[in-house]
Amino acid sequence: MLTSAAVVGAGLMGRRIAGVLAGGGLAVTLTDTRAEILPAACAEAESIAGGTVLPATRLAAAVEGADLVIEAVVEDLAVKQDLFVRLTALAPHAILATNTSVLPVSAIASAVEDASRIVGTHWWNPPDLIPGVEVVLGERTDRAVAARVIDLLSALGKLPVLVEKDVPGFVGNRLQHALWREAIALVAEGVADASTVDLVVRNTIGLRLARMGPLENADYVGLDLTLAIHDAVLPGLNRDTEPSTLLREHVAAGRLGAKSGSGFLDWPPGSRDSAASGLAAHVRRQLA
Ligand SMILES: NC(=O)c1ccc[n+]([C@@H]2O[C@H](COP(=O)([O-])OP(=O)(O)OC[C@H]3O[C@@H](n4cnc5c(N)ncnc54)[C@H](O)[C@@H]3O)[C@@H](O)[C@H]2O)c1
Repeated sequence: MLTSAAVVGAGLMGRRIAGVLAGGGLAVTLTDTRAEILPAACAEAESIAGGTVLPATRLAAAVEGADLVIEAVVEDLAVKQDLFVRLTALAPHAILATNTSVLPVSAIASAVEDASRIVGTHWWNPPDLIPGVEVVLGERTDRAVAARVIDLLSALGKLPVLVEKDVPGFVGNRLQHALWREAIALVAEGVADASTVDLVVRNTIGLRLARMGPLENADYVGLDLTLAIHDAVLPGLNRDTEPSTLLREHVAAGRLGAKSGSGFLDWPPGSRDSAASGLAAHVRRQLA
């Protein structure tokens, strides 16, 4: 049984993952290279579901004796590779999990000699609310390790799913970014403006997706109809293998979205916080 855990990276995801683990009764430590954020991060973690989350300023102290280490540091392959080499030495018996959104688990574990205990656990934001967690088998992950992680996540009230192949983006982010690529292309091509594209998604497919996934929906409408639609629509869909020029232009101009005041949409002061609380309230209502 996994009874103790360390979370490395106390940002948006790490602190709330730590809170879920502590709420489930595990002994949890939280560490970050920015030691100054740890007090607030631990307090936020503890506010989620009770339990205690202890701060640790040094990696070695944080992971010592832990049964499970979850990495939630910056999405940078070299940083994660270096961290996992250190973790295998510092926590020789722990299951080592990465919360990467899109990087292959096998690439993160590539510099480690024995990668059998390295596994992907892709939580979604906010991790204390979103039930689904993708548990990803790297090329060298021991299936028994993934099974133990799945058992723990289930006991924590999560809905873990096993992803058999370590492809970039796993299942959820491949689907999500196929949609985002098309959404950006529709704006770039002048088919509709950004707020119209979002309005259509939220008030059509968005309303259905939490109830009926795309494959059930294809069966539901009939695969003959799905085939006819694909014959007609697939040739016109965006298939760029590079990020869109429009996206690059926004980033180059400093239009980074909510954090800079504008992106595809305008973000006046305070609107990012209200979007976050509105999203959390919506997810809570749907789950209820
Ligand atoms: N934000 C999301 O919606 C989301 C969702 C799912 C997965 N993820 C993934 O989770 C991970 C963390 O994302 P986030 O949004 O919490 O990022 P974040 O920037 O909020 O937090 C990352 C934290 O890691 C710390 N850090 C960086 N290098 C470190 C190191 N070597 N050792 C210890 N701490 C270090 C930083 O100081 C920072 O506090 C990323 O891999 C990201 O792709 C993010």
